[in-house]
Amino acid sequence: MAWYAASMVQPQDLYSEYLCLDQLLDAQRPWSDLGGRPAHDEMLFIIFHQTYELWFRQISFELDDIQQRFSTSVVDDRDMQPILARLDRIAAIWRLLVRQLDVLETMAPQDFLDFREALRSASGFQSWQFRLIEARLGLRRQDRIPVFHGHFDDALDPGHKGLIARAEQAPSLYDQIDGWLARTPFVERGGYRFWDSYRAAVEHVLDGKAAGVRQALSGEALAAELSAIERARRKFHLIFDEEQHAKGVEEGLWRMSWRGLQAALLITLYRQEPVLQMPARLLSVIMDVDELLTLWRYRHALIVQRMMGTAIGTAGSAGYGYLMSTVEKHRIFSDLYGLATYLIPSAALPPLPESLRSEMGYRYHPADPPVPRAPHG
Ligand code: HEM
Repeated sequence: MAWYAASMVQPQDLYSEYLCLDQLLDAQRPWSDLGGRPAHDEMLFIIFHQTYELWFRQISFELDDIQQRFSTSVVDDRDMQPILARLDRIAAIWRLLVRQLDVLETMAPQDFLDFREALRSASGFQSWQFRLIEARLGLRRQDRIPVFHGHFDDALDPGHKGLIARAEQAPSLYDQIDGWLARTPFVERGGYRFWDSYRAAVEHVLDGKAAGVRQALSGEALAAELSAIERARRKFHLIFDEEQHAKGVEEGLWRMSWRGLQAALLITLYRQEPVLQMPARLLSVIMDVDELLTLWRYRHALIVQRMMGTAIGTAGSAGYGYLMSTVEKHRIFSDLYGLATYLIPSAALPPLPESLRSEMGYRYHPADPPVPRAPHG
């Protein structure tokens, strides 16, 4: 007999049972009530954090599947569609989490103050699910803003601390995407070397610019333009040269591997080629996720300033000041944004060799004769 048929619950109660509604609706217990000074807005504050934690759970669930699909040494092309669908969903959830803050802003600072004491040291800072998502996406311990008292995870219980430590040791989504990019076959194919071809095109663009300004300008204006072009040339050399790139990684300018970087540029520049369309979408949705997480950090920091000014947070941080510094410093996929520095106009882009283009295209062609069907029986 199926488990649901064996249940004693009446059909009209199945909705509540399915959603464990009794437990869920019994989980809002304002601490200001316990202290004998009920504060009306604490209910909103609790429900807000609870809905966030539920969405964090969904994000982790999506990440489980994405990271599993990325964990093989060769990612099956068919996995790209579900990976993109899950990433789109994570982006949509973050968009919702940012917009949702409108509701929290209906709480006045005075109303927050009325229950703030009752929270004691409880703070979103101790959200282990948030820390887990950060770590799984690729925020490394050494890249975090140093915290006021020891480590960001000191206040977590040993079980949750262990979960985060394991996530930090395992390949993050950043590492997996970098590895996947580094394996992109089209960066070097047959006699074609994307890096050599692109480097020549960049030099050509910069030489053309220099010739143009030499004709149009003189004196100080010419010197200023030529030195700007030289600066651009040096910037490009930072990525074209493997040793310079390695130095950039050491100095924290880049995190992405040299091969990964080349592939990300190839995909960005030639994204209209059929085989590169899905990878280009992947890079774009990853940037959406990074941007939405950054927007959330920023709006959360503004709300904190609105509610508490520059007062110390319940977890003991500098509050607004600390949170604002995480907005830039805790970004994970900044390298993908940095790529835009190294683009050249489409007109200057060297065409791909015809043999490579045909490999990158869909094999089906309307003029192809129909494939004969195998006879039945
Ligand atoms: C009135 C609303 C809120 C206030 C005044 C507030 C205040 C703060 C403060 C001051 C911090 C810094 C740590 C500390 O010293 O406590 C913090 C961190 C944090 N809060 Fe909030 N918060 C609010 C709403 C929320 C909501 C709705 C969430 C959703 C889960 C949230 C999640 C977090 C997270 C994840 C952190 C850690 C951020 C990081 O370290 O990068 N907060 N909050």
